Amino acid sequence: MKSIIITGGAGFIGSHVVRLFVNKYPEYRIINVDKLTYAGNLANLKDIENKPNYRFVKADICDFDTMYALMQEEQVTGIIHLAAESHVDRSIKDPFTFARTNVMGTLSLLQAAKLYWEALPEKYDGKRFYHISTDEVYGALEMTHPEGITPPFSTQASSEHHEAYGEDFFVETTKYNPHSPYSASKASSDHFVRAFHDTYGMPTIVTNCSNNYGPYQFPEKLIPLFINNIRHRKPLPVYGKGENVRDWLYVEDHARAIDLIFHQGTVAETYNIGGFNEWKNIDIIKVVINTVDRLLGRQEGEDMDLITYVTDRAGHDMRYAIDSRKLQAELGWEPSLQFEEGIEKTVRWYLEHQEWMDNITSGEYEKYYDDMYGKR
Ligand code: NAD
Ligand code: DAU
Repeated sequence: MKSIIITGGAGFIGSHVVRLFVNKYPEYRIINVDKLTYAGNLANLKDIENKPNYRFVKADICDFDTMYALMQEEQVTGIIHLAAESHVDRSIKDPFTFARTNVMGTLSLLQAAKLYWEALPEKYDGKRFYHISTDEVYGALEMTHPEGITPPFSTQASSEHHEAYGEDFFVETTKYNPHSPYSASKASSDHFVRAFHDTYGMPTIVTNCSNNYGPYQFPEKLIPLFINNIRHRKPLPVYGKGENVRDWLYVEDHARAIDLIFHQGTVAETYNIGGFNEWKNIDIIKVVINTVDRLLGRQEGEDMDLITYVTDRAGHDMRYAIDSRKLQAELGWEPSLQFEEGIEKTVRWYLEHQEWMDNITSGEYEKYYDDMYGKR
């Protein structure tokens, strides 16, 4: 039997990964370790919280003694590590929290796993430490388009997009060049994970993924924030000129990739995961406005005047785009949803789950968890 710790399972991506593993592998034991920061929300996991193969542990990954004791108690064979401070704007205001959780927290988990696994007779056999990272560690791509080069793929974005955005992509060997305190902390954690493989032989895997979107994302991130603001006719703060480009992937496709890589990925390898789906912020914002308006029965586009250009984010990366052909070629993964379908599903979900949104934004959910798990 596999006993797997998933860290950050009460967050956005983590909750989709926990749900997938709990439902797909009833024979596994899934232990969700989450500190329940402002971004952690157990309401994201209501549908699986009573499954017999699931356990929630409220704990801080930086707490080495608790991590070590939990690994011993649960005889852990695998770790899928998502817990992190994840919002770039917060990292600009408070970099220390990012270094603590993302760097020291990852190191604490690595060291606990090392001590626990190395003491076992079989040591690292059958074990996996899978670290979830981001494309932001690679820095930013130029928005250039060398003449006459055909984009390598265009399953989601049109070739027009590629012409507008450029031909360069992040590959697994792209040099690290992080610009924000968030991406610097993620880059540092990636290096620690690889160092534990190279130094101690720990069976590690790292994946670097592009921007996720979908249900249960905390409404400080672009898409859920804007959906909620459009609904309430609040201004939409567009950073700079809105020309920065991101590569968007539906969150369930990321969770599927994590499942595949956890089981079939090669130890010590890195895999890039992306949507082949680049959009300028302003274009995606217009799609979101049109979709929200249509689904609310408003005139499509009538909320365009909510767009408000504001001061740019400091150090704002211009463009991210992932080349995930390695994952496609070696493990057969590709995104399952066309973007149009994914964004429609996402907008619909947020509009139909206004209570989930209100609980977060009204502070109700803070109280709920304080009552349940003690004050945060
Ligand atoms: P999120 O902010 O929604 O969730 C993070 C979770 O980690 C929360 O549940 C939080 O309570 C928990 N957490 C934070 N600090 C903790 C600590 N010290 N101990 C235990 N738990 C703690 O984040 P997300 O967007 O779901 O991202 C998950 C992971 O995926 C992160 O590592 C992030 O860097 C990476 N990632 C995110 C994206 C994206 O688009 N969101 C893309 C690529 C990679
Ligand atoms: O690329 C992967 C990364 O994607 C993850 O590692 C991060 O955890 C995740 O937060 C995300 O980072 P971004 O900074 O790209 O996501 P965010 O939703 O904050 O912003 C998306 C783009 O929209 C970015 O160019 C900034 C812009 N933006 C964002 C907000 C919140 C605005 O213009 N206005 C806003 O209010």
